[in-house]
Amino acid sequence: MAPKKSRRVAIVDGLRTPFAKSATGPLRDQTTLDLSSAVVRELIARSAIDMSSVDRLVFGSVVQSVDSPNVAREIVLAGPLPVTVDAFSVTRACATSTQSFVDGAQAILLGDADIVITGGAESLSNPPITYSDRFTDILLQANAARDLPGKARAFSQVRPRDLAPHTPAIAERSTNETMGDSAEKMAKENGISREAQDEFALRSHTKTIEAWEAGVFDDEVMPYPLPPRFKDTVERDTIPRANSTIEKLSTLKPVFDRKYGSVTAGNASPLTDGAAALLLMEESVAKALGYEPKAYLRSYSFAALDPNWQLLMGPALATPIALERAGMTLGDLDLIDMHEAFSAQVLSNIQAFASREFAQKRLGRDQPIGEIDEEKFNIYGGSISIGHPFGATGARQIMTMANELDRRGGGTALVTQCAAGGIGAAVILEK
Ligand SMILES: CC(C)(COP(=O)(O)OP(=O)(O)OC[C@H]1O[C@@H](n2cnc3c(N)ncnc32)[C@H](O)[C@@H]1OP(=O)(O)O)[C@@H](O)C(=O)NCCC(=O)NCCS
Repeated sequence: MAPKKSRRVAIVDGLRTPFAKSATGPLRDQTTLDLSSAVVRELIARSAIDMSSVDRLVFGSVVQSVDSPNVAREIVLAGPLPVTVDAFSVTRACATSTQSFVDGAQAILLGDADIVITGGAESLSNPPITYSDRFTDILLQANAARDLPGKARAFSQVRPRDLAPHTPAIAERSTNETMGDSAEKMAKENGISREAQDEFALRSHTKTIEAWEAGVFDDEVMPYPLPPRFKDTVERDTIPRANSTIEKLSTLKPVFDRKYGSVTAGNASPLTDGAAALLLMEESVAKALGYEPKAYLRSYSFAALDPNWQLLMGPALATPIALERAGMTLGDLDLIDMHEAFSAQVLSNIQAFASREFAQKRLGRDQPIGEIDEEKFNIYGGSISIGHPFGATGARQIMTMANELDRRGGGTALVTQCAAGGIGAAVILEK
């Protein structure tokens, strides 16, 4: 496939479900496929796209369902897209739907596709639960047994401790460190105080509540009618708190290092269910079909670091590459949207952006990336206050920034995430 010159990726539309706390929230009975199908169906209806013109669908999640590992293809087969629409699934930890966006964009840039739907979803309320190798082996023996005594013989080997379920760990396989442990480590090594973390979390909630009140999210969040009766509808995110205070936040106990730690439920992103989708087109195709793109892709980059260092520092590695590819400096950006895994991770990255020592030691550059202007940063809050369905966050951020550039009538925006494995992702949008 020969790359085609002068093709440009337009973000034509985007949509997400409300985001809700996992396990106890109103979306807890919805699977990743349910959430994904619902958002894609609604995006198609709202954008009035001719479904036969969709070339591809790229979707992803992090904790994959055993029933539908290629969730993208299942979304197509669930309808109403024609079964002839090509689809594949991707996973890249918390940058999953940035990856699906980039896959869609690359297909458009290469001339491999003109119209692509991308996105991601997560139902952390419905994780695949597995058992020990020993118990799995017993189940397989029982399944293979030809008669009842054979099955009974297999099951007679079961010991109570075999029945303990294994749920997916939010921990690094290589270091055994959970994300929360990594945030603690970053807080300690970078001198990020508990007070600064709580203040950042509070600001995040305040900005999200104000955004909801101002109607910023009205067109980008669909009401989600709950099956099977579709009588109750989830209208809004359930995570933003209007009544949070510094006093309350400061009373919460540290979760990951109970004795000396500073990371709490209040300054961490919560486990969340939700889905988000984007409609991408080649610019000339969008215009010929009468769509006014919200924004365009200017550049992107992915980067990776050693998980033994500070796991969630990816934005500070990926951003300078995306800026260089865009021919820009940090100061040229009008908006910056950084995934908020934890306050400690965001504040550590902000510190690294401004640090000459970081630039010299980690980036091999003389000059720091730059000071982040607070006025431009996470203007509507982020994953701490909106929630963080792992697979959906990148698409949510890209959609919100594209809509904001559209509202402002122009400008540039950086979207960036840290992700498990020490990955960083950065996308620069322009209008
Ligand atoms: C941190 C974590 C363990 C907390 O989970 P949890 O215990 O279910 O958290 P809850 O929402 O029940 O909150 C615990 C308490 O803090 C309170 N709280 C949480 N946020 C608050 C806020 N902003 N203001 C005031 N109180 C708050 C809750 O009301 C609750 O109080 P209660 O016990 O009196 O009801 C969980 O959210 C987590 O694992 N997050 C990190 C996820 C992660 O690693 N993601 C990957 C990042 S890329």
